[in-house]
Amino acid sequence: MSLSIPLLRRDHVHFSLILDMLDRQTEALERGDERAAAIILLGLKYFRDYPRKVHHPMEDAVYGVLRRHMVRGADKLFNAVEEHAELQQELAAVSAAARSLDGKDVTALAGFAERLRKFTARERHHIEMEEAYLYPAAVHLLNPEDWAQVAASCSGEKDPVFSDATAASFDRLFAEILVRDLAARDE
Ligand SMILES: [Fe+2]
Ligand SMILES: [Fe+2]
Repeated sequence: MSLSIPLLRRDHVHFSLILDMLDRQTEALERGDERAAAIILLGLKYFRDYPRKVHHPMEDAVYGVLRRHMVRGADKLFNAVEEHAELQQELAAVSAAARSLDGKDVTALAGFAERLRKFTARERHHIEMEEAYLYPAAVHLLNPEDWAQVAASCSGEKDPVFSDATAASFDRLFAEILVRDLAARDE
């Protein structure tokens, strides 16, 4: 498969759309909108899918090759592999909390909303760090052989939402949510 920094950056644009959607649905959940929980579950399901299964492993492969070029200690600045492991743990925890959410328990709902906001903030920060450190370093330091090695180790699995056809598991409902949220943002 082909792999490039512009493609990874495009993934980040898509992830940001889902993160914005999660933040808006968190507010809706706090306002008592009963549809919000199901939409939040879909958003978290997306993050357990393409970002975790495809995007992060691609970045891990880029980081692995990059480490050979980096001066010692540079990985303390930004360690993509450690960041991904931490994000995965937090995603699993917030997903479990979302599944056991009880709309009638106001205290639990407030705690969940805070946890979900922390998750979206953490994801955004991670994206910013990659765009500030990982991607520029890869552009400057990786040679064509490095890119070939990275590409060979990556899955060709497509994004289930932002590909030509949205996967049935995310169905049209998800697309409608995105369209509606974008429309709401433009209002
Ligand atoms: Fe990442
Ligand atoms: Fe990323």
